[in-house]
Amino acid sequence: MSTHPNSIIILAIESSCDDTSAAIIRDGEVLSNLIATQTVHQAYGGVVPELASRQHHQKIVPVIDEALRTSGVKKDQLSAIAFTQGPGLLGSLLVGCSFAKGMALSLDIPLIAVNHMEAHVLAHFVEDPKPNFPFLCLTVSGGHTQLVKVTNPLEMEVIGTTRDDAAGEAFDKIGKYLGLDYPAGPIIDKLARDGQAKYEFAKPRVDGLGFSFSGLKTSVLYFLRDKLKEDENFINDNLNDICASVQQTIVDILMDKLTKATKKTGITEVGIAGGVSANSALRKALSESAETHGWKTFVPAIQYCTDNAGMIAMAAYYKYENGDFVDQDVTPNPRLKIPTADS
Ligand code: KG4
Ligand code: ZN
Repeated sequence: MSTHPNSIIILAIESSCDDTSAAIIRDGEVLSNLIATQTVHQAYGGVVPELASRQHHQKIVPVIDEALRTSGVKKDQLSAIAFTQGPGLLGSLLVGCSFAKGMALSLDIPLIAVNHMEAHVLAHFVEDPKPNFPFLCLTVSGGHTQLVKVTNPLEMEVIGTTRDDAAGEAFDKIGKYLGLDYPAGPIIDKLARDGQAKYEFAKPRVDGLGFSFSGLKTSVLYFLRDKLKEDENFINDNLNDICASVQQTIVDILMDKLTKATKKTGITEVGIAGGVSANSALRKALSESAETHGWKTFVPAIQYCTDNAGMIAMAAYYKYENGDFVDQDVTPNPRLKIPTADS
């Protein structure tokens, strides 16, 4: 590839959970974003950490090769190597971290450690239109539910989070009760399209900007237990309506707190990120709120919502510009956090 000699070209690796991904970014523009999703976990109803790290080992070389090939970038053109430092599964993070270290060492280029949750937020800056600052982001994934106030790409804080399950976890666990495969979020989304949200489930009463989803889980479990006593085919015969009702409840809980957060902060540039932001009902609710409340809203393309290295590359690009590099003694941090408002 002919490229300007002063171009900043970064290879980013994401391996925090069950997707092995590699991306190339040149001067802030993502040139390739390859994602190998691991299907081995489906049979177990959740991610099996040991299997995840073994799969990362198998896939990391072909995925990086493909990311380089499709971007037309040669290894010796790279300015830095970036990787996900955390949060995530230790065994999975270790694969990406070790590989990145080895590659940076052999090419004698800097190494950049990226926080996966910050990267989910910065997925909004991969494509146009991009939010202005300050910006409020609701990050909803399988492991996290966070309201993040973003002052600039390198400065953000969590102003609200969940006290128990994450929004994606609620979709996945309730999906399991319904006999759906893992991850159930996208399946519930699809089935809900042909259903009516006619069942009511408990909504949490959590003060401030906090979330809770464990009460909803229990409420659905008791509801199903009672209905199945009367009719053993209740789930099969009403699956679309149950999915629509569960989805609507989760979306209502999320939108209620997002609205409160905009009122509290006065911020009207509002986005959603993370795997659950692929949900069609949440996307619709966000665009309706844009009209009602006069927000400017942002949703990344689906490939940048679920786990991907493109977002890691975006975060790495800002860090590169800021000279934010790490040494070879860096280690993965499964509990890496974005600072909270009161920490
Ligand atoms: O961000 P992500 O890919 O991985 C984590 O960092 O957790 O999010 C995965 C989560 C899973 O819980 C999955 O069920 C959920 O995102 N998800 C969805 C949809 N697509 C993915 N939930 C609801 N509707 C969807 N369309
Ligand atoms: Zn994620």
